[in-house]
Amino acid sequence: MKTVVLPTHNPALFNEAVGRAAELLKAGESVALPTETVYGLAANALDSRAVAQVFEVKGRPSHNPVIVHVASVKMALRCVSGWPASADQLAAAFWPGPLTLVLPRSREIPDIVTAGGSTVGVRWPSHPFIQEVIRACGFPLAVPSANPASAVSPTNAGHVLKSLGGKIPLIVDGGQAQVGIESTVLDLCSQPPRVLRPGMIDAAVWSTVVEMEGRAGNMRAGGGKPRDMEDAPLRSPGQFVKHYAPKARLVIWEWRDETDLQSQVSNANFPKAGTNIIAHTKIPTGEGYGRVSVLPHDPAAYARAIYAELHRCDDTGAQLIVVEALPAEARWHGIADRLRRAGAVDLSHR
Ligand code: TXA
Ligand code: MG
Repeated sequence: MKTVVLPTHNPALFNEAVGRAAELLKAGESVALPTETVYGLAANALDSRAVAQVFEVKGRPSHNPVIVHVASVKMALRCVSGWPASADQLAAAFWPGPLTLVLPRSREIPDIVTAGGSTVGVRWPSHPFIQEVIRACGFPLAVPSANPASAVSPTNAGHVLKSLGGKIPLIVDGGQAQVGIESTVLDLCSQPPRVLRPGMIDAAVWSTVVEMEGRAGNMRAGGGKPRDMEDAPLRSPGQFVKHYAPKARLVIWEWRDETDLQSQVSNANFPKAGTNIIAHTKIPTGEGYGRVSVLPHDPAAYARAIYAELHRCDDTGAQLIVVEALPAEARWHGIADRLRRAGAVDLSHR
């Protein structure tokens, strides 16, 4: 199959790409689209055949549910059979944006979307392109990240082309993803709400909104912070340990200085030339390493850049990726979660 990449950098191109994407989606095809978190592979969420095609293209296991993307609260209400006050408040505070709410599903949502479960994840993304496509279609879109299952998510159109080129008819280029890691997934079917996947909207931020509701008398007695607000992810059907992984072995290390780093690399028994370093604070001079990348010591800027860095490591054939350990603060939790998964050695996948 020939994959067309459409640009969107002026109004005429933008509208033309919206038209083409909507046309394909209405015909039951899957299309790669930009969102503010990562690029997604979209299909009509109400058409199980179209969603099945997305699972096939990604090689995604059928027990991993997909997030339904909407362009209004009204559309979200069509997808769910319950909408607690906390959903209203979180949507008012964070939608459109990188927050997915897990709620009881409505009958309209096919089984394949929820992996047969009784809940559905719903998100209203903020990227103008996908919003416009959803409006043009008039139906919600099922949109997993546009990468083969368990690989690193794409943050630009080139990343999608590299792994899904030839397998899908259209990739829309909407620029570099501005958040850079996947949305926070919050389960509102449990009391208190639980984080299923941490993201850039961290517990310190979303819990203030839900706590207001608690003060209004509708949450739990006692007033203490629920354990899950620590942002530790719980197991979601699709939260496999090894996920978001580059081809190279990835390790997360701290080092005192260049000599310390050097000795850790030689102990790991990887050739120095095949070793890429991703640092943010203690930056080595780079002598002899395959590549040294410096990312900003700021969570929002770091998140925006990290996946492209991992893709680059794969492109250059790195064997070992050494990532400098991240600060322990809540604002870094989503990124730390992805790096942990990228480095996990999952023997069941070997
Ligand atoms: O930022 C994002 O969420 C991106 C962009 C494209 O919007 N999408 C994304 O989708 O990351 P995906 O399919 O790669 O990851 C969805 C995650 C999986 O871990 C899945 O298990 C979880 O959300 N999920 C989806 N529906 C769920 C549900 N009903 N209950 C629990 N977890 C759910
Ligand atoms: Mg994914």
